Amino acid sequence: MEKLVVEGGRPLIGSIPVSGAKNAALPILIATLVAPGEHRLGNIPDLADTSSTLSLLGRIGCPSLVNGVVRIDTSRVAFSEAPYDVVRKMRASVLVLGPLLARTGEAKVSLPGGCAIGTRPIDQHLKGLEALGCRFELSGGYIHGTVHDLRGADIHLDMPTVTGTENIVMAAVLARGTTRITNAAREPEVSDLCDFLVTLGAKIEGIGTSTLIIEGVPRLTPASRPYRIVPDRIEAGTYLCAAAATGGDVTLTGVDPKLMEATLAKLVEAGCDVRTTEDTIRLTRSRQLLPIKVRTEPFPGFPTDMQAQLMTLACFSKGTSTFEETIFENRYMHAAELLRMGADIQHAGRVATVRGNPPLKGAAVMASDLRASAALVIAGLAAEGITEVLRIYHLDRGYENLVGKLRAVGARIARVSDTVQDPAKLKAALDDLGPSVAPAEA
Ligand code: EPU
Repeated sequence: MEKLVVEGGRPLIGSIPVSGAKNAALPILIATLVAPGEHRLGNIPDLADTSSTLSLLGRIGCPSLVNGVVRIDTSRVAFSEAPYDVVRKMRASVLVLGPLLARTGEAKVSLPGGCAIGTRPIDQHLKGLEALGCRFELSGGYIHGTVHDLRGADIHLDMPTVTGTENIVMAAVLARGTTRITNAAREPEVSDLCDFLVTLGAKIEGIGTSTLIIEGVPRLTPASRPYRIVPDRIEAGTYLCAAAATGGDVTLTGVDPKLMEATLAKLVEAGCDVRTTEDTIRLTRSRQLLPIKVRTEPFPGFPTDMQAQLMTLACFSKGTSTFEETIFENRYMHAAELLRMGADIQHAGRVATVRGNPPLKGAAVMASDLRASAALVIAGLAAEGITEVLRIYHLDRGYENLVGKLRAVGARIARVSDTVQDPAKLKAALDDLGPSVAPAEA
């Protein structure tokens, strides 16, 4: 296995290109199942999760070719199943439920179970699909769904679940009649999925609002032009936090600032100077960071996927910041690791208080989930000395070429085998400007 070694204390300066959004790419790759034929998708990020999704589609019988643009051939569906070994690695596999039921009348998906950030049930996905006429049985850890007559229905979600809304929409586009989803998720990634489905011939009104009205059609067909995925607002926000924490000056390119208003507002509140154009964001931070108040909410509120990164930033501010995590019940795993670097964080239930206490000091820390890992990288970039971030497979799930992008703006960061302990070898990896992997120690 590998770890990241980071030497902190250098302001990040320069430009970072933002990749396509992971959380739009995954449902859109899976949504190709609803329209038999060859699809072409652009701006799909090169991530462990996108590879897992393509291999899941391959197991279903839909081969793909990645060559800049991703081509997927969904002419034939051979198996309607997402097995445990895939779902275990990537919860988003549960998104095959809606499209497979709509396409073949059957789907078998391993129940995802809880994960590091919470229990994450899928009751709303099932409730919505049942309203469309699907029936489910649980057996051997698998949800087995069948449907004979997929028909539109009115569905009110108990909470605006992102993948729940997506699962229901992907079935409803092929249902007989009209489906009305109220309290639907409004995240830009949900809108991107809906926009993609419209290019296949789906009829969806209210995209971007909390009421989606879907008029089912008998069949959908691949679009003649490649569809381009929206930029990743969470990747973008992560690099802005890194720039802010290090007192840097970074310009993001290929980004959509309109999707990031809540995050940008918090960075301004923290004392950063943020300037935007239609597709760039420049952040400079030349003064002391200020404390912030963060409450996570569904879009357009402040995203839970940025909470950990902002908490790291708060550690470098002067004063007391407060956080309230309202989406997931267990999303402060990064706090304990930040404490190991000298942070002053207290949390009880969903509320955390951060007393800005610069400077943090480098340490070996363990990542528990994707965004927690990103928060620890930011901490390492701004801390004194060397930080080692272990279990970086989480980062590979969601950040394309993280090390390369950060090095290009002056970060001292390298990927090394986690058997490397010798400080001289770690330093050599940081000094090496070439491929950043140090050999394993015998
Ligand atoms: N919930 C239920 N029942 C359901 C569905 C959700 O109780 O049937 C609860 C969840 O337990 C949670 C809340 O509703 O407390 C919201 O969860 P949601 O379903 O919206 O989350 P998700 O769809 O599983 C997606 C992203 C997450 C992101 C959340 C919230 C994808 C693939 N994942 O998850 O992304 O945090 O929405 O915005 O789109 C990440 O990228 O690091 C990540 C975790």
